Amino acid sequence: MTRAEAYAPGRVELLGNHTDYNEGLVLGAAIDRGVRVAGELRDDGRVILQSTMMGEIDISSTDLAPQTAHTWANYPLGVLKELRAAGCAISGFSARIESDVPAGSGLSSSAAFEVATALFILKLVEERMPPLEIAKLCQRAEQRFVGVQSGLLDQVCSIFGRKDHVVYFDARSEEVRAIPFPDNLALIIAESGTKRELTSGFYNQRRAETQAAADALHVSALRDASFEMLASLSPLLHRRAAHIVGENERVARAVDLLSRGDGASFGALMNESHESSRTNFENSTGELDSLVEIARQLPGVLGARLTGGGFGGATVTLCEAAKADTIAPELQHRYAARSGHEPKIFVCRIAAGAG
Ligand code: GLA
Repeated sequence: MTRAEAYAPGRVELLGNHTDYNEGLVLGAAIDRGVRVAGELRDDGRVILQSTMMGEIDISSTDLAPQTAHTWANYPLGVLKELRAAGCAISGFSARIESDVPAGSGLSSSAAFEVATALFILKLVEERMPPLEIAKLCQRAEQRFVGVQSGLLDQVCSIFGRKDHVVYFDARSEEVRAIPFPDNLALIIAESGTKRELTSGFYNQRRAETQAAADALHVSALRDASFEMLASLSPLLHRRAAHIVGENERVARAVDLLSRGDGASFGALMNESHESSRTNFENSTGELDSLVEIARQLPGVLGARLTGGGFGGATVTLCEAAKADTIAPELQHRYAARSGHEPKIFVCRIAAGAG
């Protein structure tokens, strides 16, 4: 029986919030948590998915349609459908899924699940595909099967991540570059434990608003906008566009700072980024603001911001590496004392991507 196994990591976004679908610039990294998919081919046309966390489904692979009861299965099923559309001949398979990236945490369990599934199926049928094509195929699966009009950041980090390196991605030119992450710095991830209902609705709304701002400015994407151009926009579109223009500028500056090992200035940009999320893009929450505010008071912390789509999820804190193991429990303790719930906080290692 033909068997295969594949693993793909989650990611943390460091700067460049909601810039990817505006053809902008992003800095992210693959993390040391991910999704593993293992299983075997079937010749009876069934797709059987078993997840320790989510449950099990057994469906016919001839008529793949988005699931309403088991929405978690839409990630792998969407990937299967897109792979078939790309010419991959596979009828059915059984797969077991294990994950240590919590769903809805802002660490992109969805992209990890998609990428791991794509690599698993490609291995099963002994086919290959260029890594950027796999990233785009997974993005299409998410847009068409799950209904989130996401950009390419998550899949790119999950595939192109490199141990102890930050991934720089230019969503217009599709340039991907690995930049060394200074070894005297560390990242702490704090899950707020909240995920707002209708997150995908908020996400798609932001995407539509930024496109409306681009249309009003007569540019194809906000990548082409500058602060000076935004004056004519309505107050709401002005705020949304200012976030994107500011984030692109921050990423461009941060690349240089990282290369020089200037963690303090990099952290200051992360703080600015969160402030812009809070006031301009309005994709933060009270919980994320608290985590960021508490983190910034701790000695050794250089900056903190929300990571990923927002509207719940997690924050990322940049700190001096030598103090990370004392900062993480202190942040946990102070946040629990203030909010009443126990957040999950961990020092994150930058890991290799699936590619
Ligand atoms: C989610 C999306 C990404 C990106 C971020 C925000 O993670 O999947 O494509 O837009 O939000 O930067």
